[in-house]
Amino acid sequence: MSDAAENTEITPEAVNAAVDAALAAIDASADTAALKAARSAHAAEGSPLAKLNARLREVPNDKKAEFGKLVGQARGRVNQALAAREEELVAAETAAKLEAERLDITALPARARVGARHPISLLQEQIADIFVGMGWEIAEGPELEHEWFNFDALNFDVDHPARQMQDTFFVDPVDRHLVMRTHTSPVQVRSMLERDLPLYVLCPGRVYRTDEYDATHLPVFTQFEGIVVDKGITMAHLRGTLDHAAKVLFGPEARTRFRANFFPFTEPSAELDLWHPTFKGGARWIEWGGCGMINPNVLRAAGIDPEEYSGFAFGMGVERTLMFRSDVQDMRDMAEGDVRFSEQFGMVV
Ligand code: PHE
Repeated sequence: MSDAAENTEITPEAVNAAVDAALAAIDASADTAALKAARSAHAAEGSPLAKLNARLREVPNDKKAEFGKLVGQARGRVNQALAAREEELVAAETAAKLEAERLDITALPARARVGARHPISLLQEQIADIFVGMGWEIAEGPELEHEWFNFDALNFDVDHPARQMQDTFFVDPVDRHLVMRTHTSPVQVRSMLERDLPLYVLCPGRVYRTDEYDATHLPVFTQFEGIVVDKGITMAHLRGTLDHAAKVLFGPEARTRFRANFFPFTEPSAELDLWHPTFKGGARWIEWGGCGMINPNVLRAAGIDPEEYSGFAFGMGVERTLMFRSDVQDMRDMAEGDVRFSEQFGMVV
């Protein structure tokens, strides 16, 4: 083609042919890359039009103006067509790119579902909130506990049945006297030793017993322990505190009562019963937990003068609370970790 163009005389036909070929190629360019190729084939150096232009040198002077105008206008048309097509293609490509990168910032995120919070954790936090709302502090203690905190300091006799193998997980080696704590009550002693008086402390946490794994027992379960030590504390304070907690957790119709009981670390001691009109099986009393006035021996073990201070303590099971509050029939559902169980309690994350 270049040879042909080189030998082509400048004639209106030759110029028009070059323009037509250029315009056809420009028209046919579907994107800016194709247009770039069309530009180098039809308008750049070495293109037929450029070659015709170069031959103006050979044109006799009296024809220079005429031929100059012919070739100049031809190049002008091609350059205009290139510019117009370029504008169109750039606009189309920008629009396509914007469309492809479009982001709907109002769209809901496509998050992977990770699970649901466990109802025991939720209830534990709700219980903690009740007491924090009354100005109490939250305390924690170790789950692997020294026998002294779990039993001795709590006034358990050496031969108390709760120490026996059927209740307690003893941890080897035996001479280190470590147990998996059987209740949260060792935190009573730890709190009295570590904190300043007066003491208003709630301790939620896991406890361990060599119980059967069945619908109403788990070998690992959760308790919350309450401890108050102050001047002039009476059983009426204990009753009022637990009654308030019961009404917040179960509704204003909930009622509480005490039944005499025995714990080595409280004197007097009571079983706390809870009544509610809509419990499964009808309005009835259920056993909710243990409580009592802290035994003076326990206060003394923690270096507190029982003549000056008195206190109360209580301990409740969180699983049992959930069972009655949410009609869970089988405690094993709380231990098995099936997300469908947790999802029923509403806090899906
Ligand atoms: N620790 C007792 C239990 O686990 C409950 C309790 C706590 C009783 C505090 C009285 C005072 O059975």
